[in-house]
Amino acid sequence: MNGIKINHLTKVFGGVRAVDDLSISIAGGAATGLIGPNGSGKTTLMNLITGLLKPDCGTIEIDGEIFDNINPQKLRDLRIARTFQDGRLVDQLSVDDNLLLAIAENDTRKSLLQINTSSMQERLDKTLKKIGLTAHREKMAEDLSYGQRKLLEMGRALIQDADIYLLDEPFSGLFARQIENVLKLITDLKKSEKTIVIIEHNMGLIKQVADKLIVLDHGQLLASGSPNVVLKNKSVQQAYLGV
Ligand SMILES: Nc1ncnc2c1ncn2[C@@H]1O[C@H](COP(=O)(O)OP(=O)(O)OP(=O)(O)O)[C@@H](O)[C@H]1O
Ligand SMILES: [Mg+2]
Repeated sequence: MNGIKINHLTKVFGGVRAVDDLSISIAGGAATGLIGPNGSGKTTLMNLITGLLKPDCGTIEIDGEIFDNINPQKLRDLRIARTFQDGRLVDQLSVDDNLLLAIAENDTRKSLLQINTSSMQERLDKTLKKIGLTAHREKMAEDLSYGQRKLLEMGRALIQDADIYLLDEPFSGLFARQIENVLKLITDLKKSEKTIVIIEHNMGLIKQVADKLIVLDHGQLLASGSPNVVLKNKSVQQAYLGV
């Protein structure tokens, strides 16, 4: 499994260089923690990789193909799934339908009519079980608790059975038991050698799941390497941990 290579990527908003001439490599088949202070460009980087934003300059290389902009069709072909920091559920649809929508949005076939409904049902049931929401499948998304919404958001990524998962703060605001649940989901992805990028502010958690860390500061690379080494780095401690 190839990883993602970012070359001189830049995104400027007004006077803010959110991602600033950034060149990094994200290993394939491993879990990378993407960390850095608030506003350091983590979400912007995910938005650039998933084509939600167009870079001002620079390129993104995935599976050996080089892009200066990724469109939704390409995203589907590259089998990239993501979750959003602020969530992207449809409040007025059921849990089931939010999951089915994630299949619909990301299927590469010309029409959903070409999807075998029994295989869709199977994927749906399997995903509901994984995220522990089977008993809530008919509830409207708006009637779920915050933690259940986060799990559903994860489910929307998992049901796509992608090769690359970009997870923007999947643990934030969760209770201990829900954190365990998400940890298990990510551990399972790791076992199947998916490429995973996780944005997270809790260093204890990121140390548990990440094989490697990339630290951003003001849109630039501050440090990268194994979690134990990176978290001991003085400039990382000063910029991020404030010590
Ligand atoms: N759409 C936008 N328009 C204008 N400025 C933006 C936009 N998106 C991000 N920014 C700015 O770019 C910088 C990087 O933001 P980004 O959301 O990528 O940071 P982050 O590292 O994800 O932060 P956090 O940890 O708080 O989620 C910030 O200064 C932010 O205000
Ligand atoms: Mg963010």
